[in-house]
Parts: sequence; structure tokens; C-alpha cells
Amino acid sequence: MEAENLKASAYQSDQMTDELLEADLLVLATPMWNFGIPSALKAWIDLVVRPGRTFQYSDSGVLGLAKDKRALLILASGGVFTEGPWRSWDFVEPYLRQILGFIGIVDVQTVRIEGMNIPPLAATAVQKANKAVEELAL
Ligand SMILES: Cc1cc2nc3c(=O)[nH]c(=O)nc-3n(C[C@H](O)[C@H](O)[C@H](O)COP(=O)(O)O)c2cc1C
Repeated sequence: MEAENLKASAYQSDQMTDELLEADLLVLATPMWNFGIPSALKAWIDLVVRPGRTFQYSDSGVLGLAKDKRALLILASGGVFTEGPWRSWDFVEPYLRQILGFIGIVDVQTVRIEGMNIPPLAATAVQKANKAVEELAL
């Protein structure tokens, strides 16, 4: 059973890594859960951040192998994290930028859907985010 699980994970990892390496644009749309990313997104990261496939260590440090790609982060949250007292609680955007940079994806843009638990902000958050996406040069 364990061997079967390992085989299935290896297959999934190969498929997802191939898909990532073939893409020009990576779109990650995620909610904030407990100030970080949901475990399903973390699982995807763990399947695609692979030595020899998406990064490698060299004499001059880490080399990202997922080159010539852009990424768009669409980040939803109940609170506001781009400004104000909760800013330092955002472990979503800094982590995603860091891990994407580690594999060579440094052209990263972010669109926020924030304040979804704050009714006056929630009323316009999706509309604002749609407009921001339309205005991006992708
Ligand atoms: C399990 C869980 C944890 C959450 N944790 C946070 C949080 O730490 N900070 C926050 O601002 N919003 C938090 N939220 C609110 C979501 O980020 C927010 O509702 C977001 O709009 C959800 O996106 P979705 O509607 O696409 O699922 C949480 C929601 C859930 C269900």
C-alpha cells in the first residue's frame, strides 16, 4: 500500500511539474487560511519544488530552473493585509513570492480580494479585483 501511494505521488508530482515547466503564466488563486496558505496549495508546492527539476544547488548558490515565466497571485482574505496593523500577519504573499523566486519565477504580480469579512469592503472587493486583473499587462 505504501509503495502504491509513493508511486501515485511520484506520478502526480511528475505531471504537475511538467505542467508548471510548460506554462508561460502561472495563476495561483487562494484564500488566506489562518494567515497562511491552505494545505492543498502547500501540497502542490511540495510536489513541484523539486531538486533537479525546478531548482538546483550550484557553486554560486541556488539556481531556479522554472525560468521565463510570469505569475499572478490572486489572494482573498477576510481582513486587510496590504496596510494597517495586520500587515505583518500576512504569511501568504511573502511566502509565495519567496518560494516562487526559489524556483526562478520572479516576475510576480498580485491582485487582492481583501476585507471579505468586513461588509463595506466586501461589497466592492471582487469588483475591484476584477478591474485590477483587467488592467494588468499579462
Ligand atoms: C478555515 C479558514 C481560515 C481563515 N483564516 C483567515 C485568516 O487568517 N485571515 C483572514 O483575513 N481571513 C481568513 N479567512 C477568511 C477567508 O480568507 C476569506 O473568507 C476569503 O474570502 C475566502 O475565499 P473564498 O471565498 O474564495 O474561499 C479564513 C477562512 C476560513 C474558512
